[in-house]
Amino acid sequence: MKKIISDLINKKNKSKIVSLTAYSKNIASILDNFCDLILVGDSLGSVLYNYKSTREVTLNTMIEHSKSVRMGIKKSLMVVDMPYGTYKNPNEALKNAKKIISKTKCDAIKLEGGKKVVQIIKTLIKNKIPVMAHLGVLPQSATNFKFKGKDTSERKVILRDSKLLEEAGVFSIVLECVESSLAKEITKTVKVPTIGIGSSAYCDGQVLVTDDMIGLNKIKARFVKRYSNIEKQINDAALKFKKDVVTSKFPTKKHSY
Ligand code: KIV
Repeated sequence: MKKIISDLINKKNKSKIVSLTAYSKNIASILDNFCDLILVGDSLGSVLYNYKSTREVTLNTMIEHSKSVRMGIKKSLMVVDMPYGTYKNPNEALKNAKKIISKTKCDAIKLEGGKKVVQIIKTLIKNKIPVMAHLGVLPQSATNFKFKGKDTSERKVILRDSKLLEEAGVFSIVLECVESSLAKEITKTVKVPTIGIGSSAYCDGQVLVTDDMIGLNKIKARFVKRYSNIEKQINDAALKFKKDVVTSKFPTKKHSY
């Protein structure tokens, strides 16, 4: 196992794991100073491309963004989402995961699901491809985005899936919108770190979509905390630029050849 991955696993019960998404080099290079793990999430489908669902994201789109992100990362673990339809069976998953890794030089891939994807995950891991799992709300197959773990049968399935995924060899599990006490139970049960998004502080780490976190994406979800208002800063800068251009204050001699 790569040291960068065993280091992440070793953080469990010692220190919290910090993770954010990146879709491009410049953002990734800033986040690299603060994150343990940077995820090229297929959330880029809605955040950047305005797709109705992540199901429209293609393998090539993920690869191109990931190539850009790779250039910005020096130390963090880089994980790339396998998009919808690229891991229908073990052979296809293997072919596509190999393509993602060889083209992007990422450290690991992430895919969504529990029992249904266990065979696929085993095949990838057997072929030395590190896998991060994703349980709870699964945007690639979701019909709604309500939190998971409300009723006993749903809780049992998610807990069972977390154990199956651990046995299959995943190095971490994202828990998306999983009810707090269930996230706590999973985190206590599995030996690999859980990374929560809308799944309480009981998880071993947290991930947010960076564009949500900096106030560039206008999503109104309970699990998002806005740490910055980048929209305002871009507005202010664009307004100043506009004023300078229309009043011929820019460019000056200093900015001209
Ligand atoms: O696609 C994504 O950005 C994700 C995170 C929200 C975990 O899967």
